[in-house]
Amino acid sequence: MISSCSLTSELLLSFYGKGAKECPSPNERIKLVFSKSKQFDLIELEQLLQSVGWSRRPLRRVRRALDNSLLKVGLWRHDEKFPRLVGFARCTGDGVLEATVWDVAVHPVYQGYGLGKELMVYVMDSLSTMNIERVTLFADPGVISFYKRQGWELEPNGRRCSFWYAN
Ligand SMILES: CC(C)(COP(=O)(O)OP(=O)(O)OC[C@H]1O[C@@H](n2cnc3c(N)ncnc32)[C@H](O)[C@@H]1OP(=O)(O)O)[C@@H](O)C(=O)NCCC(=O)NCCS
Repeated sequence: MISSCSLTSELLLSFYGKGAKECPSPNERIKLVFSKSKQFDLIELEQLLQSVGWSRRPLRRVRRALDNSLLKVGLWRHDEKFPRLVGFARCTGDGVLEATVWDVAVHPVYQGYGLGKELMVYVMDSLSTMNIERVTLFADPGVISFYKRQGWELEPNGRRCSFWYAN
């Protein structure tokens, strides 16, 4: 059961910044909030990404990558003293024509309740506010259907394919 929202707009603004939005929660005692301006604790962020099986990265490089990103979204479990980061996504891009979504993750304890889908809706709404024309992402084989269910089209489909080159 997903509970409705109950945090005031004043609280959202003061704790989580402009554009913050409450996320429907699977448990009425747990309040969840999307923010694109609340600062991340890098260690907490890396712990979240490691919890979904991704390897550790040097924090200084992560900081620079975040600084250079177009959009960074945190999904926070609200607590006035110790809000916890339970989901994350970021986008790179030129800010006008193209954006690419990276590092979409929901902590394993919070997976399977529709939060990943809500996270993507918040990311896409935020990019839409910026008038970005086209959004791309690279999906691991295990999550292709997660994106397909949300309307993403799988390439190449005979029309285009991607190349990558490890630098
Ligand atoms: C992928 C991920 C973000 C999904 O988050 P989540 O909160 O568990 O997803 P949701 O509960 O919102 O699921 C939404 C829908 O996608 C489906 N889904 C969720 N994870 C899926 C997966 N790995 N593969 C296929 N479908 C998936 C759900 O069954 C649900 O389907 P429904 O709409 O028919 O009910 C999360 O599992 C995760 O962090 N995985 C590890 C990191 C990762 O692989 N990220 C993607 C990088 S490309």
